[in-house]
Amino acid sequence: MQADVWQKYEVLFWVLTGIFVYLLILTIIYLVLKIAFHKKLGGIGLYLSYFFMFPLLLLGEITAYPRRRKMWLIRSGLKEGHSYLEEGIGLGTSPILASRIVGAKGRIYALDNHPLQIILLSLRSKIRRIKNIKLILSDSSKTYLEDNSIDTIFICDAFHEFPDKRNTVMELYRVLKPEGSLTILEETVRNTNNTQKIIEYTKLFKLIERDKNS
Ligand SMILES: C[S@@+](CC[C@H](N)C(=O)[O-])C[C@H]1O[C@@H](n2cnc3c(N)ncnc32)[C@H](O)[C@@H]1O
Repeated sequence: MQADVWQKYEVLFWVLTGIFVYLLILTIIYLVLKIAFHKKLGGIGLYLSYFFMFPLLLLGEITAYPRRRKMWLIRSGLKEGHSYLEEGIGLGTSPILASRIVGAKGRIYALDNHPLQIILLSLRSKIRRIKNIKLILSDSSKTYLEDNSIDTIFICDAFHEFPDKRNTVMELYRVLKPEGSLTILEETVRNTNNTQKIIEYTKLFKLIERDKNS
């Protein structure tokens, strides 16, 4: 009887074990790199959440509704031929959308300090045959870009994670063209007053618009 049950569920057991081991390995690689590159340790809750986050992230990516993100990119002033910088790219959805908007004459710079995000976007752009994305593995406060070279800077749900916010803002100001724009979107942070205060403190940017829902 027991042998019957085992035979019936053996395939399911090995599939679930395979998924579990795969997620565990991904989580360990991700965390080792996070500790190495972000140089900080989080609470146990954070580590557990990474384990469950991978399938959720993939699900989120598959079911993502890019229209809203595209709307933000257009609202931030992004146009054909523009040079675009994004810091904290995550899975790289916005740089991919932005690459279509700027077209062949435009240039996309996608920066992140986690190598897996860089590898992921590199793979995604190869699969989609996108040629105008340049990847930068670096901290947000060091872009290695030329002065006054960027039309649009876009940061989505990442600014709150940057440890050196002041130097990041100064670096963004350095690379932005005088008529360029910086958009900071914080969809998962409830109170964005702190972000605005940091930017205002540097006295480098003029606030053009703050979304009434933020
Ligand atoms: C929540 S994810 C961003 C999500 C993504 N922008 C999106 O819209 O889906 C935050 C990203 O910021 C990156 N990040 C965190 N600290 C950073 C730093 N100091 N410099 C550069 N990137 C950083 C993380 O590696 C991660 O990819």
